[in-house]
This record gives sequence, C-alpha cells and structure tokens, in this order.
Amino acid sequence: MKRIVVVGSLNMDFVVETSRIPKCGETLSGKSVTLIPGGKGANQAYAIGKLGGKVGMIGAVGGDAYGQVLRENLKAVAVDISGISVMEDGVTGQAFITVDERGENSIIVIAGTNRAVTKELIQKNARLIQESDIVIMQLEISVEVVEYVKDMAVRLGKTVIIDPAPAVCGLPESFWKGIDFIKPNETELAILTGKEMKTIEEVKEGGREMLKKGVKGVVITLGSKGCIFLTEEKEKFFSANKVKAVDTTAAGDSFTAGFALALSQGKSCEEAIRFGQKVSAIAVTRKGAQTSVPTMKEIEHTWKE
Ligand code: RIB
Repeated sequence: MKRIVVVGSLNMDFVVETSRIPKCGETLSGKSVTLIPGGKGANQAYAIGKLGGKVGMIGAVGGDAYGQVLRENLKAVAVDISGISVMEDGVTGQAFITVDERGENSIIVIAGTNRAVTKELIQKNARLIQESDIVIMQLEISVEVVEYVKDMAVRLGKTVIIDPAPAVCGLPESFWKGIDFIKPNETELAILTGKEMKTIEEVKEGGREMLKKGVKGVVITLGSKGCIFLTEEKEKFFSANKVKAVDTTAAGDSFTAGFALALSQGKSCEEAIRFGQKVSAIAVTRKGAQTSVPTMKEIEHTWKE
C-alpha cells in the first residue's frame, strides 16, 4: 500500500442544527450546538486513517483544548501527526456550521493557526512529503503554500490530488500545471472557471478547461446527481448511490479520502471514484464531519457484492 500525506487545515466545528438557514437580518431558534472535529484537511486524513490507509498530516493547531482534541482524534485512527505543529500562543481553526432539516449546510471558517502553515513549516516537515507517494491538499490553507507543495511533489514524482475547496477565482496559470487529479464540485468549478455551470455540457466544458491548463484528471462531483471523470482520452459519468442525506458536511472530504485511499491500494481511477462515492454516500447519512466517516466493514456490508 502506498503512503499518503495530507497537507491542510484542522478546525473545530461548531455545528448548529436548525430547521432552515436564516435569511439576512433574521434571528432563528436553533435546535442544538455540537462541537465536532473537522477541517477539510483533517477530515480527509481522518477518513483515510479510519479506512486503514497509511497516512500522515502536515498542518498546525493552537495550544488550546481544540488543538489537542483534533490531534488526538487523528491519532486514534493511526494518522501520523508528527507533521502537525502546535503553535502555543495560536488559536486553532474554527468552523461555524449551520445544518438545516434537509441536511444542507452553510459554513463560516475562522482560519486561526491554519494560517501558520507556511513554506517554512512545509520545509520543516518535508520528510513526510518525500516519504509519501500521494499528496492531497485543499484550499483552506494559503494558496501560495499549496502551489509550493504541489511543485515540490511534482519534482519528487508524487501523485498530487487537489480538492479545490473553498474555491477561489483567478488562480495563477502556474497553479494547475502537474496536478494529477482535481476534484471540484459544480459550484467550485463555476468559481474556478468564472463560468456558469447550469448544464452537464457546461460542467464538462469547465472540466476540459482544467485539462487545458495542465491538470491530468478532473473528477467533478455533482452531489446526488453523481459525478463526471475527464481526462484527455476519455469522459465518463458515474451515477450516485441513492441515500437519504441528513448532513452533507464533509461529503466532498470523504469522497476525496476514499478516492485517494483506493489509488494508494493500486485500484484504477474508475474503481477509486466508485469507492469515494461509497464512503461519501454513507458519510452524508450521518451527522458531522469526522463523526460521519464509516469503517471499511460498514462499507462492505452496505454494498455486499
Ligand atoms: O468540508 C467540511 C469542513 O469544512 C468542515 O469540517 C469545516 O471545518 C470546514 O472546513
């Protein structure tokens, strides 16, 4: 099995359950507030670890209780946390998540010590990148640092997977070159390309644009509608597994984790996409980010061949 390193964010999620997302200027009564380990990077590392992958993480937390809980949670599923720095005077990243009755969410992130993931911190932990075969990143840390790690990983011949969330517009042309797989959803693809994504043809065209910029494979997730995989040679649609979603938080993170884990086990891209879909399909039937990740047994039991 190949080794994976996740370079990215760690957040403590403050999850408010409510009947619906409030309108601008409106006050609503929520049902509950729960603190759950999250952060797009940590969610991906956690899911890979829980599913039995060999994974380490590079990131930063504060010297507060949240940072300690986040590190311990990753350690509990055998994630190598030696690359997670503790900034004693810093405040751990926090995410304020509102989840409505349909399981849809809106999120505000306070970056905190995720801003401390600098080129210097990467240099300090370069060993973890050198010793890994697959490098996964998201955009909750500085884009400049993501590009720096991507260039380092490409030079070292690693497989680079980028989950471009939260998406930002106007990324430099140099950003895309050498990325093996990018995994936007259709909303993120619209932001990345600056174009509307209302039809499947527009979504495919957006994916082709990524390929022209130098990305080798584009996986576009479409929620309950499935997903599309594009390379220079082929385009393939994958239908979604039908489930009743209660909370879509970390749906994308669990997909990316499953996809990367399957690649690390020598599976084909198509098999890896199907596995990512399975992990994500179970995760959305449960509440929270890291709390929603299934075990391998649960996945095998749900999709008995
Ligand atoms: O993708 C879900 C994650 O986004 C949450 O866990 C939250 O921390 C935000 O980073």
